[in-house]
Amino acid sequence: MSDEQEEWVRIARLNDIPKRGARLVKTLVGLIAVFRTFDDKIFALDNKCPHKNGPLSEGLVYGYNVSCPLHNLQIDLRTGNAKGSGQGRVKTYQVKLKDEQIFLNVLPFEKIKG
Ligand code: FES
Repeated sequence: MSDEQEEWVRIARLNDIPKRGARLVKTLVGLIAVFRTFDDKIFALDNKCPHKNGPLSEGLVYGYNVSCPLHNLQIDLRTGNAKGSGQGRVKTYQVKLKDEQIFLNVLPFEKIKG
């Protein structure tokens, strides 16, 4: 991809987020929850459960999933899709880990601005 298609911004250090935890990032499109799994994979999703907007960053992270703290809907962090008999999808964002630093691709936010 060219520079016009990606713009990575450093948002945190890996150790700023506990294993099986999350951190909120404020953006032009709202709050994004950045999750760290047990094996140090990083995922970024809207902080809104598709059921009734529960704050996913306060949910329980297990494996590659988060459980919504309000009514326990299970969300796959890799796809944003509800699992099992649950319905709905959470928007996901590109993140990458480099040298223990977490970067978020902010291009979608720039597009919205323009
Ligand atoms: S708001 Fe998340 S399960 Fe109801």
